[in-house]
Amino acid sequence: MKIAICYYSRHHGNTRKVLEALAGEGEADLIDVTTRQAVRLEGYDRIGFASGVYYGKFHPSVPAFARQYLPEGKPVFFLCTYGASRGKSLREMEAVAREKYCPVLGAFGCRGYDTFGPLKLVGGIAKGHPNGRDLENARKFWRQMKDSLG
Ligand SMILES: Cc1cc2nc3c(=O)[nH]c(=O)nc-3n(C[C@H](O)[C@H](O)[C@H](O)COP(=O)(O)O)c2cc1C
Repeated sequence: MKIAICYYSRHHGNTRKVLEALAGEGEADLIDVTTRQAVRLEGYDRIGFASGVYYGKFHPSVPAFARQYLPEGKPVFFLCTYGASRGKSLREMEAVAREKYCPVLGAFGCRGYDTFGPLKLVGGIAKGHPNGRDLENARKFWRQMKDSLG
């Protein structure tokens, strides 16, 4: 099965860390949405979209990328990391999936080290995340997602 994960990860590379753990399980191509290459996603069986949560949302470059490149009807899944809470950060990606008639296979999120703004003064929150348990949970999600029928 061919899987691509299109992602944005900047703050501490937390999201990228989760994706690398999954790519280590095999068969995932990681696509940084900021690298502006012409992308063809038709050949993939499943497509993931991943981001840190910034101001309660996925980074805008991720839904924009999905609107541009996601083929209609392709099964999708979502991954994110957040300092405090995932909140409603998946909303826009769910809207894109609806617009493109793409079934959503599931979503995974975990905390990620956060030193944004004044949090820096107190040493940040979610220190050490994603940790080993987060990565194990991510792998569990990954296996279930791959086994689902889509
Ligand atoms: C500009 C900015 C805004 C953020 N906004 C939120 C937020 O609204 N909710 C939250 O729980 N975490 C927030 N965070 C923390 C990040 O979601 C968290 O650190 C995440 O793991 C960053 O992912 P990355 O290292 O892959 O970029 C914010 C971080 C930054 C830098």
